[in-house]
Amino acid sequence: MDAVAAAAALSQKNLLGIADLSPEEIVLILDTAEAMKEVGRRAIKKVPTLRGRTVVNLFFEPSTRTRTSFEIAEKRLSADTLNVAIGTSSVVKGETLVDTAMNIEAMSPSMIVLRHGSSGACHLLARICKAAIINAGDGMHEHPTQALLDAFTIRERKGRIGGLKVAIFGDLLHSRVLRSNLLLLTKLGAEVWVCGPATLIPPGLARLGVRVTTRVDEAVEGADVVMMLRIQLERMEGGYFPSLREYFTTFGMTEARLKRARPDVIIMHPGPINRGVEIASEVADGPFSVILDQVSNGVAVRMAVLYLLAGGAEDETVA
Ligand code: CP
Repeated sequence: MDAVAAAAALSQKNLLGIADLSPEEIVLILDTAEAMKEVGRRAIKKVPTLRGRTVVNLFFEPSTRTRTSFEIAEKRLSADTLNVAIGTSSVVKGETLVDTAMNIEAMSPSMIVLRHGSSGACHLLARICKAAIINAGDGMHEHPTQALLDAFTIRERKGRIGGLKVAIFGDLLHSRVLRSNLLLLTKLGAEVWVCGPATLIPPGLARLGVRVTTRVDEAVEGADVVMMLRIQLERMEGGYFPSLREYFTTFGMTEARLKRARPDVIIMHPGPINRGVEIASEVADGPFSVILDQVSNGVAVRMAVLYLLAGGAEDETVA
């Protein structure tokens, strides 16, 4: 933990989005996550950093990776952690997000990790809560810890992010993962391409400093990193493309299409995967895939975020 002990804290109390982070703060989180990953290799994967602090995981939308890895990260840092099960909470009786948060706040947690279907829900809680708010995905807005773990995985595999060609494919319209990744990757100097059907390309994307195309071959040509995004059927009411089969035929990532990428390309996907829709199983499970590395790295990155928001090196309980 020496590298962690040397790290500074973040300038803000909350992590609401990549938009609020400077390139230096992003690198600080990635560097801190490297030290946190070392904790995960130990026989006893626990440090006392957040002892005496309570972290509440408040997930209004389904999650496997994010909720689980936040909980593991909190436990590895010795926080008292609890998950609010929305399905058995008073939300089902009609209690609002604000009232739910104010009641949790009354029990003095240090941090609230929030996933919510509404864009801006985390900003709303940040305005009314004393607890630090960490965005675990808000509507179609941002998913900052996903972009941070993606960047950590790219840097781990490639040694850098600046100058790499990163090609991102799929549902560009509904993806909070895309938004956070575009902000992060352009801040760190990557050449970013995005590709999907015209109906799933939001207007103004090119203004974010990325190359936009509907041609998969053009985007994948010479790519160092291929990042697939899930087709978010739950946010669609139909009409974006004729059928899932046709989507796969035109935009699905296959071994044949991947041949145009660099020979050492890495394949990423935030999960959950729609096999045979945006990605072929041979690619998802193939030798270039780092999809499960992303999941492993999520724990270290979330430990780093929790640690730095808690005060970083000012916290005397780090050991
Ligand atoms: N990547 C991601 O956010 O996965 P979950 O929805 O399972 O948390």
